[in-house]
Amino acid sequence: MKTLTITRPDDWHLHVRNGAVLKTVLPHTARQFARAIIMPNLKPPVTTVAQALAYRDEILQAVPAGMDFTPLMTLYLTGSTTVEEIKRAAQSKYVHAVKLYPAGATTNSDSGVADIDSIYPLLAAMEKHDLPLLVHGEVTDETCDIFDRERIFIESHLSAIHNNFPALRIVVEHLTTAEAVQFVQSAEATIAATITPQHLLFNRNALLAGGLRPHHYCLPILKREHHRLALVAAATSGNPKFFLGTDSAPHQTSLKENACGCAGCFSAHAALELYAEAFDRADALDKLEGFASFYGADFYRLPRNTGMVTLEKSTWQVPETYGDNGVAITPLKAGETLSWKLV
Ligand code: DOR
Ligand code: ZN
Repeated sequence: MKTLTITRPDDWHLHVRNGAVLKTVLPHTARQFARAIIMPNLKPPVTTVAQALAYRDEILQAVPAGMDFTPLMTLYLTGSTTVEEIKRAAQSKYVHAVKLYPAGATTNSDSGVADIDSIYPLLAAMEKHDLPLLVHGEVTDETCDIFDRERIFIESHLSAIHNNFPALRIVVEHLTTAEAVQFVQSAEATIAATITPQHLLFNRNALLAGGLRPHHYCLPILKREHHRLALVAAATSGNPKFFLGTDSAPHQTSLKENACGCAGCFSAHAALELYAEAFDRADALDKLEGFASFYGADFYRLPRNTGMVTLEKSTWQVPETYGDNGVAITPLKAGETLSWKLV
C-alpha cells in the first residue's frame, strides 16, 4: 500500500467556535494537527488579551485526554481596539496575531473594521511590536460583485497597507484568485498566504451547477477553474509563502440548509486527507510536507513540530453528519469516498 509520512502539520486558520460545537469539532483537529491559529469571530468577538486567554482555557478543556494540541490565539480588530491592547497582545506568549475582518464581510464580522484607513495607527503598532496581521481580504461594497471582492480588496487596500508598513508580517487568508496568488508571489517576504482544501478541490460549479449546494458555500466564495488551477500551482510550488490553513468553519446543518445559509465549510474531520487528495491529483505529494508542516511555522517564527503522521492511500467514506446532543454538522464531502486516510 502507498503511504506518506510527514512531520506533524499545523492548521494556520481554524474556527472551532465555543460551547457544544467546540467539543464536537476540536477532537478532529487535535487528531491531525499539533497547533492551530484560532479565529476570534465568536459572538461576542475575542477583542482583548484577557478574552483570548479565557477562550484558550475553554479550548484546552475540549482537547480529548491523551491528545496533545496547542491553540494559538488571535485578537479580533475593531474600530475601538487600542494601541495598548496591541502591545499587550504582542507581549503575550499566547496571542500570535490580530485578525482584520472588514465589517460585514463574513460570519460574525459586524464588529469588524468599517474604515480601513482609520486603523493605520494600530497597524503601525503591530509593525513596531512585530505582531502579524491576518486579513480577510474582501471589500464589502454592495455594488461590487461577490466574485470580484477579493481582487478589489487587494487593489484598493492590501497593496497600500503593504507599502505603508513594509515590515508588518501579513497573512492573506484563504486565497481564492489568481490575482491574489500573483500579489503574494510578487510582494516582499513579509507577505504570506493560507489556502483551504475546498479552494484547491472545487471551482464555483461545485456550488452552483446542477443544484445549489450550501455545504460548498464559504467566503471568499469559490471561483472559476482558472483560479483553482492557480491556487493548486501555488500550493504545490514549494514556495514558502503559501501554507496550510483549512478555514474549517462549522455551522449547524440547519443553518447551512436554510433560505439564507451561513458561509463556511466544515473540513476539520478530514483536513489532511483532503489536502493529500489535492496534492496527489497534481502529482505533487512530495510538496505536501513543506506546505502543511514547515512554512507556516517558519513564518510565525515558531519551532517546526518534531512528531510524524502517516497517511495511507486507502478509501473511506465520510459520514453524513458529526455531533450529538443537539449538535449536527455536515462535513465537506459528506457521504463521499476519500482516497487518503490518516493512520
Ligand atoms: O466561509 C467562511 N466562514 N468564511 C469566513 O471568513 C468566516 C467563516 C465562519 O466563521 O463561518
Ligand atoms: Zn476563516
